[in-house]
Amino acid sequence: MSLHSLMVALAMALIFLDPCPGNAAPPGEPDDEGFDMENYDLNSETDWENLDINIYGDSYDYEDLDQEIEVGTVAPDTPPPANQHTAENHEEEVTLPTLPPAPVTLDFKGPGLFGPETGLGMPTCLLCVCIGGSVYCDDTGLDQIPPLPKDTTHFYGRFNKIRHVKNTDFINLNKLQSIDLTGNQISEMDEDAFRSLLQLHQLLLADNNLQVMPELPVTMRHIDLRNNRLISRGLHTEVFKDMSQLEFLYLSNNNLDYIPTPLPLSLRLLHLQNNSIQSLHEDTFCNLHDRNFIRRNLEDIRLDGNPLNINLFAQAYICLPRLPVGSH
Ligand SMILES: *[C@@H]1O[C@H](CO)[C@@H](O)[C@H](O)[C@H]1NC(C)=O
Repeated sequence: MSLHSLMVALAMALIFLDPCPGNAAPPGEPDDEGFDMENYDLNSETDWENLDINIYGDSYDYEDLDQEIEVGTVAPDTPPPANQHTAENHEEEVTLPTLPPAPVTLDFKGPGLFGPETGLGMPTCLLCVCIGGSVYCDDTGLDQIPPLPKDTTHFYGRFNKIRHVKNTDFINLNKLQSIDLTGNQISEMDEDAFRSLLQLHQLLLADNNLQVMPELPVTMRHIDLRNNRLISRGLHTEVFKDMSQLEFLYLSNNNLDYIPTPLPLSLRLLHLQNNSIQSLHEDTFCNLHDRNFIRRNLEDIRLDGNPLNINLFAQAYICLPRLPVGSH
């Protein structure tokens, strides 16, 4: 399929998927319509492109995003020096275009209609599919995380070739709740890559090459690190302790020597199959000093595939509703 037909197909798909097309053209915003018309007239040699952009513009669902970004880039030659990130993004925006200069709207509006520029000759929302707050970039050959629209809530970047998650990749994405990077080649993540994500609940990093984990927000509910190369000293001390909403923790098929404690009371599932755990302590799950303590949420503990005879640690399970699954 050619790029042209791909873009047209994408635009058509978005029209069908848009739950309320009327939203895209709010009353009191005559600028948008006028602008598209102007653009339409400017580029007569590539009709499909203009048509495409026009359709897309009418059905695109990121009205808030367009407005916010427009404000930041209204004066392209004087990026506000106070805000370095804006300035950086803007510079990328200006220096990267390799497409023909046809879609004037995109340049003028910066990240605008199709999301931020990726540096691969296409803005993120042409390379990926952006619907509502979700950005779908599965299996698109990415070797780095593309710049995401500011309103992104869910990012899917599965089955790509990403090796490094940088501290700027998720910067200023205050609405981001879920990141899925399953099936990449990630071996390195900057220490503060996730630190500013105040709404992040879900981080799925199964099937990568991680040995060390950076700091994570305490808002986590679901962490999946299956099939990596994690070592115990690659986890922060008491890394899960303050995650009072953490429910699902998948750590199977790694190189962990011990269970990362303390575990929050909210935890319902702990999968540690195929690690190098050799022993348990009496207070790994329970409370040595409080015999009445019951950890009632933790119903699913898997310890099989460790050099550990779970029969030898009966005292460690007295507070649990169910015995761990493991080798005897
Ligand atoms: C643990 O390793 C065994 C043997 O390699 C494998 O068959 C099993 O699927 C692994 N368990 C998990 C949960 O991946």
